[in-house]
Amino acid sequence: MPSFPTDFLWGTASSAFQIEGDRAGRGASIWDTFCRIPGAVRNGDTGDVACDHVNRYRDDIGLMKRLGVGAYRFSTAWPRIQPDGKGRPVEDGLAFYDRVTDAVLEAGIEPWVCLHHWDLPQALEDKGGWRNRDTAHRFADFAEIVGRRLGDRVPVFSPINEPNVIVYVGYGFGGHAPGKRSRADAIAAIHHVNLAYGQAMTVWRDVLPTAARLGPIISMAPVVPAREDEEHAQAAEIVDWLWRRVMTDPVMTGAYPALYADEIARHIEPGDLEQIGQKIDFFGLNHYSKIYAKPDPDHIFGIGEADPPSGAPVTAMGWEIDPDTIPRQLADMTERYGDLPPIYITENGAAFDDKPVPDGRVEDTDRIAFFEGYLSAVASAIEAGYDIRGYFVWSLLDNFEWGLGYSKRFGIVRVDYDTQARTPKASFDRLAAIIAENRV
Ligand code: FCB
Repeated sequence: MPSFPTDFLWGTASSAFQIEGDRAGRGASIWDTFCRIPGAVRNGDTGDVACDHVNRYRDDIGLMKRLGVGAYRFSTAWPRIQPDGKGRPVEDGLAFYDRVTDAVLEAGIEPWVCLHHWDLPQALEDKGGWRNRDTAHRFADFAEIVGRRLGDRVPVFSPINEPNVIVYVGYGFGGHAPGKRSRADAIAAIHHVNLAYGQAMTVWRDVLPTAARLGPIISMAPVVPAREDEEHAQAAEIVDWLWRRVMTDPVMTGAYPALYADEIARHIEPGDLEQIGQKIDFFGLNHYSKIYAKPDPDHIFGIGEADPPSGAPVTAMGWEIDPDTIPRQLADMTERYGDLPPIYITENGAAFDDKPVPDGRVEDTDRIAFFEGYLSAVASAIEAGYDIRGYFVWSLLDNFEWGLGYSKRFGIVRVDYDTQARTPKASFDRLAAIIAENRV
């Protein structure tokens, strides 16, 4: 039975737009806009109500306590704090995150703040969004506001959730807000998102207590060619560039990967790369599933994704279930970057087509098997010498799954969106036992 080190940190992760609701209390974000484009989000779903977490956060934190986690990773909605992405912060917005932070601490749980999880203020998008260098400066101001407000109680901060997905899906495939498919925009966004990350790190080193721990959160997974031929190998190289390397290389090495570096260079100003490549205290690794790359002449970089091989086990997202990708991803990183900083798995989890019985209970044996498989892989990776310090479940609650709306359920707690009733699934009980025993 694989077990974990005694000080291993168990957590759950969430993001503001996906659970909070309460449109009245905040400015519009690019996701509000995207949700209103016909056909952009499945079933026309929006984040207007979501899991009504703004009103139910105490109950949700109660569930975390029952689960037994030591940390809760949440994000702060930029448009709730600065509705137009600049200027004086809104006191009510900051006060909400005060209350969440305090309630989390009262429950004996460590609050981890990820400043930005994709809900860019629409007012900034109107001025070019991540295509515009100024957005990075606005982001540094936002980081300072939140750092000064929560830094006395929050020990761990991260600037941006999965900057690679912002660019890869939001600018490459157009499947996420802001729904662009432009090579020039994607190239500009790559550097400005990285710069925003670097500037937030710099500001925080300045305003936060010296004990604060700071690091990136990036979605990492091995990229493999869907077929063994030259064209697919080339596509895999480009996917790897856009998916992993344009973010992790500058963060880990202070330099962009060679491929298309000249196009990015146009946006770089002196000092940028030093900020982006500054020291990190940990690497937040979100992990879901490997990517099968294929060529696609219609894509801005000529790439596409293929389905997993037929017969491979998949989740309701169509993502292959293969826990071996955890050690493989760590090996890839070690090969490329040498000794790694402490790693936290800051997201991992699975959507399945849950079938609730009439009282709302879900016997999600598929999700239990998923967690057992991936957690065993994490335990073995630690045994093999990788410095993995913690694991955050995505997610406590079923929630708004971006372009797929509420149709995909990642929670270990079922949310009935008509009544907002929360019902822990069987996977919740299994994880509570794993956490209590510190072994799978
Ligand atoms: C990650 C996102 C998170 C959630 C999971 C399933 O890429 O960070 O918000 O949607 O995927």
